[in-house]
Formats: sequence, C-alpha cells, structure tokens
Amino acid sequence: MKPSRKWIAGLGVAATGYVLAAGLVAFAVPTDPSLGAVAAPEAAGHTHDHGHAHVDADQAEQLTGPFGAHGDRHPQAPVFETAAEGLTERRRRTMSAMSGHFRAVSATLLSDAGGEEMTQTHADALAALGREIDMLFAVASPAPDNARGALPAIWAHPVRFSQYTAAFRDESARFAQTVRDDGDLVNGLHDLRYYCVACHADFRQR
Ligand code: HEC
Repeated sequence: MKPSRKWIAGLGVAATGYVLAAGLVAFAVPTDPSLGAVAAPEAAGHTHDHGHAHVDADQAEQLTGPFGAHGDRHPQAPVFETAAEGLTERRRRTMSAMSGHFRAVSATLLSDAGGEEMTQTHADALAALGREIDMLFAVASPAPDNARGALPAIWAHPVRFSQYTAAFRDESARFAQTVRDDGDLVNGLHDLRYYCVACHADFRQR
C-alpha cells in the first residue's frame, strides 16, 4: 500500500506527540537511585499480575493514526544511566522474544495447538536471534550480587561463554533447517532446548 499524504501527516503529528509525551514520562519517573534505572518503568506506574506497569489513564501518551486517537498507558523511553543497564534491558527483552518463539513452536508440536504453517517463521526468528546472541553480552553487565540476572562468570570466562553462544547459534540454525527439510521437529526442538537450559544453569542467577 502506498502511504497517503494524510497518513504521513498523521505520523508527523503522532511523532510530535510522542516526543512531548516521552518528555513528560521521563520527567515523571522517580529519581530514587536505589530503584535503579532498569526498575524505573515499573516504578512509574503500578504493576499488574502480568508484571508490567501502566500509568493512569489521564497520563496516557496520546497516539494518533488512521484508527483514531488512542492513549497508551505503558510508559516508553525510560532513560538508562549506564550502557550496562540499557543492555540488560535489551537482553531481557530479547530473551523474552526468543522464549515466545520457542514456546509458540512447542505449543504447535507438543500441545496440538495448530499453527504448523508458522513454525518456519518462529524457527527462522530463533536462528536470526541466535546468530546475534553474543551481542547481548557485548558490555559487562552482570546483575548485582544475589539478584536474578546475568552472572559475572560471563565476562570473567569469555572463551568458555563463547562456546555456549556459538553452540546456540549453530543449533538454532540447524533447527530452522530441520523445519525447512520437514525433518524430526520434536527431537530438533528438544535438542535446541538443551542449549537454553545449559546456558541458564551455568551463567544465569534465578
Ligand atoms: C548463551 C547463553 C544463553 C542462551 C543460549 C539462552 N539464554 Fe536466556 N538468558 C541468558 C542469561 C545470561 C539471562 C539473564 C539475562 C539478564 O537478566 O541480564 C537469560 C534470561 C532469559 C530469560 C529471562 C528474561 C527476563 O526478562 O528476565 C528468558 C525467558 C530466557 N533467557 C529464555 C531463553 C530461551 C527460551 C532460550 C533458548 C531458546 C535462551 N534463553 C537461550 C543466557 C542464555
């Protein structure tokens, strides 16, 4: 579809609104340093059972577009004080994305949930993220002592850790190929899961 002028104008308005609202949200984030910048999005609103924050409706960020104006109650654009905190946020989001793709495939293969026609998409996404998984550890960013997250061993033993990232890269590529070849998907997914679990066991604090 060729974007119409109206649509582009709408985007311009939305972008301006976004910048204004993002400024307001950033201003509203509490500055208590003990919360840490990563915790700031949660601190800005109230956390629900599903673990993410909402702001009150009257503080919602207004977004405009072809389906009318809508308020987004999920605050965007927290400011991270260090590169390590920003990377930790992206690492966790990316891991969650991998988990979503993995579990969607496992629902198809193991739980009779349908969706065979999407298995390749999820497998290719896992392989694409697998190719870049080492970039999620580019800057030393361990969790504080005893907190859940990445262990310091990742950066203390980089050669050993790189064996885990490389093995996951290779196995996720193999799984995507297995889907393409209409091979043994149940065993393929089982083999891939080993590399998630092994890395978590050795390099992640729960
Ligand atoms: C090479 C190591 C490695 C591999 C492979 C790996 N992970 Fe992780 N994963 C980690 C580390 C380290 C963390 C902790 C990151 C942090 O909190 O900073 C983590 C965190 C997570 C989290 C929690 C994210 C959050 O929001 O706190 C999930 C979910 C996850 N991984 C799923 C997976 C799945 C599913 C796979 C396989 C498809 C996988 N991981 C493969 C190292 C790995």
